[in-house]
Amino acid sequence: MGASTLTKLTAAEAAALIQNGHTVGFSGFTSAGAAKAVPLALAERAKAEHQAGREFRIGVMTGASTGPSLDGALAAADAISFRTPYQSEPALRALINDGKVQFFDMHLSAMAQEIRCGHLGTVHCAVVEACDITDGGGIVLTDSVGASPTFCRMAEKVIVELNRRHPPTLFGMHDIYEPADPPYRREIPVYSVSDRIGSPLISVSPSKIAGVVEVEMYDDPVEFTPSTPVTEQIGMNVAEFLAREVDRGRIPKRFLPLQAGVGNVSNSVMAAIGRHDDIRPFQMYTEVLQDSVLQLIMQGRITFASACALTLSRRMQDVLYGNPDFFRPRIVLRPQEITNSAEIVRRLGIISINTALEADFFGNVNSTHVMGRNMMNGIGGSGDFTRNAFLSIFVCPSTAKKGVISSIVPLVSHQDHSEHSVQIIATEQGVADLRGLSPAERARRIIDTCAHPDYRDDLRAQLESMKGGHEPLSLESAFAFHHRFRETGTMRANARLHALTA
Ligand code: COA
Repeated sequence: MGASTLTKLTAAEAAALIQNGHTVGFSGFTSAGAAKAVPLALAERAKAEHQAGREFRIGVMTGASTGPSLDGALAAADAISFRTPYQSEPALRALINDGKVQFFDMHLSAMAQEIRCGHLGTVHCAVVEACDITDGGGIVLTDSVGASPTFCRMAEKVIVELNRRHPPTLFGMHDIYEPADPPYRREIPVYSVSDRIGSPLISVSPSKIAGVVEVEMYDDPVEFTPSTPVTEQIGMNVAEFLAREVDRGRIPKRFLPLQAGVGNVSNSVMAAIGRHDDIRPFQMYTEVLQDSVLQLIMQGRITFASACALTLSRRMQDVLYGNPDFFRPRIVLRPQEITNSAEIVRRLGIISINTALEADFFGNVNSTHVMGRNMMNGIGGSGDFTRNAFLSIFVCPSTAKKGVISSIVPLVSHQDHSEHSVQIIATEQGVADLRGLSPAERARRIIDTCAHPDYRDDLRAQLESMKGGHEPLSLESAFAFHHRFRETGTMRANARLHALTA
């Protein structure tokens, strides 16, 4: 392949095609596959426009979060007016929590349909990273798919970043499929994790391709925080719980496909499941494949992985790119509309494992807002999987910030996942199986098995003070833990004593 007749542009020339007030759909799902050169040039353009006293801010859509060269650079240049559907970049997060960028936090599976139906307005331009492109407009994506097929379909024009860092041998790893919209939608024909149902490339009319920017740039580096004794214990608790479920015949012996969320806790959980002798080699149907999953594929512990992005360290990316013939039959990259599809998650019987910031004693989970106010990252795909899973698990350390915050609280300060969707909560203290329990039973189970011992008595006292009603909720003291933290800097009941002895 390789296009010879398409217009070649520099990144600055491409950025000049985007105007103040435009909405741009950038490729990128984590730093994997994110457009880089054009956003960096756009940031420079915004700075120059601002210096000249002119407005320059755009709406930014991506597959999910991106790194310093997209969200970071545009946030630093004050070039973002609107952002969706997910982010995790510190400078952008600060602007969102300051009310300077309007952020729409949405289920990742819903993004493509919302765009196609016009609910998010016009997409003026798509900027997508490719490892190859044909004269006929066939775009081979790089290490993520995200929402790029829909951006390319819906955008008025398409700019392609042809990034030579990603080898054209990635051809064949993607499975591009867009369902028809209601009322014409049929079933999405993925019946097993490894089914391929679409095309290996995105087809765009060459007349819509405004230009090709040739670059050679690494994805922004991925930072992996090493596991800790606490995250390892959470991992072991979840792995042991799953092994017992298999033993009891409640999960089939051949196991079910796993989805694992993003972040440090999730990495430790995956490693523990991969190591467990009583869990047979399994498959993943998930969003993001991190280093730990690639290693398990190489060890034969994971037999096939379907995902939306390969979020790898540079070392592991080199391993993957150096062995395309080994990995291509074992990995498929799909659009987020398919990886996170409610229909497929329910059909395949996914075991979902996602991370909570806090959970309350009824089983409601907050994954997004610190103290109910400040956005952390967004709901991402956690809701897509949790609501439709065969078994939905939430994990978190029992405390945060060196123990001054209890992750188990009387009532979550923001709710992303309701008690109706959350079946299992696991911390380093233990695993609470909430299936079949009433609210009062759930509360006792969560306090006794998941809460940190330092907070158990206070949580029990809270529970005891709430008599009567189906759900033991006290409107007066539901946020007592959060109030105490705001006033004293700790959720501990003996805050003054704690401060004196700390
Ligand atoms: N209150 C305040 N801060 C809290 C907290 C709480 N109850 N619980 C955790 N935190 C802080 C931690 O201290 C840490 O802060 P730091 O970065 O300053 O050290 C930060 O939140 C991250 O917590 P950590 O324990 O390291 O977990 P993580 O890296 O696994 O991330 C989420 C946890 C919830 C932020 C992350 O999983 C997420 O964004 N989830 C939502 C999206 C999602 O689940 N996507 C997957 C679908 S496929």
